[in-house]
Amino acid sequence: MRRFENKTVVITGASRGIGAAIAKRFAREGANLVVSANEDLVHSVAEQIKVDAGKAISFVGDVTDKVSVKALYDAAEEAFGAVDVSIQNAGVITISRIEDMTEDEWDKVMAVNTKGVFLCAQEAIARIRKHGRGGRIINTASGQARDGFIYTPHYAASKMGVVGITQSLAKEVATDGITVNAFCPGIIETDMWAYNDQAWGKLLGTYAPGELMKEWVEGIPMKRAGSGEDVAGLVTFLASEDAAYITGQTINVDGGLIMS
Ligand SMILES: NC(=O)c1ccc[n+]([C@@H]2O[C@H](COP(=O)([O-])OP(=O)(O)OC[C@H]3O[C@@H](n4cnc5c(N)ncnc54)[C@H](O)[C@@H]3O)[C@@H](O)[C@H]2O)c1
Repeated sequence: MRRFENKTVVITGASRGIGAAIAKRFAREGANLVVSANEDLVHSVAEQIKVDAGKAISFVGDVTDKVSVKALYDAAEEAFGAVDVSIQNAGVITISRIEDMTEDEWDKVMAVNTKGVFLCAQEAIARIRKHGRGGRIINTASGQARDGFIYTPHYAASKMGVVGITQSLAKEVATDGITVNAFCPGIIETDMWAYNDQAWGKLLGTYAPGELMKEWVEGIPMKRAGSGEDVAGLVTFLASEDAAYITGQTINVDGGLIMS
């Protein structure tokens, strides 16, 4: 399928993990990709897309910085003329007992996961409206937007905030042909989850690396962790014409881990 010929997709947090998998999937379906992250590794994702005959530019920036976010969307328009789809995927987590959690941890997680979504969506909506041909805003939430897990009150708050942003913006731009949706990955095998496995593992018992993840994966009805490709299938659907009448929704992609 090449559903996204002549469409430009901006995606943050695309240097690895879920974001890189989503970017590669859009590229295979013909989109122009603008892959962004706050680390140089993102350049290799664009290079890989080009080696595979896709179209991509890379941009190193910080989603918590309004000037940097504006420069990202400027770069997208300069390279490809417009923005059609914007995927707010950059995210961070820390895991600490409440007495050990610092104000800096709180502020950083809220800044990247929630304010970052706001700043990118704000910039993207302005560009999409200017072109007047509609578009898609897609935000990365988490299973923690449904059910706050232990030792991560800041992360749970930040991702529940993403759902609020999604619903509010969906109402505001509904008549501009722009849909706004979010998705909740469950346990997806990435660098973030490798950190989660070890950090939660230390606080919840004496787990060796990989053991806690194994235990949690046993609790998933499908009995397997998710992959970036699993997530990319949902995100490309939400960006497609088939999802034109879906807005303000938050959809789980987690093998049945959470059913509400
Ligand atoms: N892996 C999971 O199981 C899981 C589950 C639920 C939700 N999520 C969410 O999915 C998204 C991607 O997670 P992942 O597992 O691929 O994580 P990851 O740690 O592998 O990648 C995180 C990405 O975000 C980027 N990033 C971090 N801070 C940034 C900033 N200030 N500005 C710009 N980019 C920044 C990093 O450079 C990287 O590209 C995150 O929003 C995360 O919260 C992941």
